[in-house]
Amino acid sequence: MAQILSVEGRPQVLANPGRLTRMIAPAIDLPDYRQLAPEVAARFERIRKRPVILKVHELEKTFGEGPERHVVFDHVSLDIHRREFLTVIGPSGCGKSTLVRIVAGLEEATSGEVFLDEHAVSAPGPDRGMVFQGYTLFPWLTVKRNVMFGLEMRGKSTASAQSEARSWIDMVGLAKFENSYPHELSGGMKQRVAIARALANEPRILLMDEPFGALDSLTRCKMQSYLLQIWKKVDVTILFITHDLDEAIYLSDRILVLGTNPGGVREVIENPVPRPRSPDQAISPEYLALKTRLDELIHGTAEETEEEKLPMARMTLAGDDVE
Ligand SMILES: Nc1ncnc2c1ncn2[C@@H]1O[C@H](COP(=O)(O)OP(=O)(O)OP(=O)(O)O)[C@@H](O)[C@H]1O
Ligand SMILES: [Mg+2]
Repeated sequence: MAQILSVEGRPQVLANPGRLTRMIAPAIDLPDYRQLAPEVAARFERIRKRPVILKVHELEKTFGEGPERHVVFDHVSLDIHRREFLTVIGPSGCGKSTLVRIVAGLEEATSGEVFLDEHAVSAPGPDRGMVFQGYTLFPWLTVKRNVMFGLEMRGKSTASAQSEARSWIDMVGLAKFENSYPHELSGGMKQRVAIARALANEPRILLMDEPFGALDSLTRCKMQSYLLQIWKKVDVTILFITHDLDEAIYLSDRILVLGTNPGGVREVIENPVPRPRSPDQAISPEYLALKTRLDELIHGTAEETEEEKLPMARMTLAGDDVE
């Protein structure tokens, strides 16, 4: 049986991740995952009217040549609107990080284009803030100095960099730690500094590649909540990568599902779960309907996967069976 537990007051449905929603879903009369409540549909109407910040057009990325040639994805097109929160999910190796690296200007696309505010992206720039899974703070600088770094690089005086850094550090709730060094912080705190440092440059878009992937589940839930609180206060658009379906549903406006073989966009889904998001929604019909669909898109339908059996010969002579 799937278990519904509570982490920090937020229900977590824990079980074999690929099976769980399939186990509960058939027992509940779920709505269509594309069915939007009137207030949710109205919110998407409003989002669509905002200007497009990031435009990805017919992107293709291929590695290697000849027999080694590997098309990671092609025909990837996408518009992200101002202050939209878009999450990309997909199986390991489908090109999520590659996509985000191309948008960051760290990787070149094989073909296609990326436009930020209608300017073609060809190199990294301060208009794109980045937060990755690995802790990327400078270990020899204090929290404050880490956040000041980009500001000073952009030509701000020490005094104004210091005061701006302080207000970003306040925003992520780390005022007491401004003189601490990264090794004195927990993983969650380091990522909060990384978010403050990225936002201090006032980027147009925040690119986050599994930023909470290395955190324990409790800290991860807290970080998701912090991120939503910060996003509400700052004029920033977010492109977020995750493996975690609950994280994608809790955070996003839209969810883009990438697939493999062939690599590319499987589906772009408008999240039917209303905002503001709350812990109890994890067992609402629209939440479960969306999670079931995402699970199917990533792992295949129940019929496709249920019969998976390892081709193993029996390797024990012990009499009693384990299940
Ligand atoms: N520099 C490279 N040279 C050759 N192949 C690469 C390179 N970088 C990535 N790849 C390949 O591109 C594909 C996509 O990799 P990518 O890291 O973008 O996947 P991902 O979806 O982020 O995976 P994960 O979920 O495991 O992080 C993989 O098959 C990977 O082996
Ligand atoms: Mg990756």
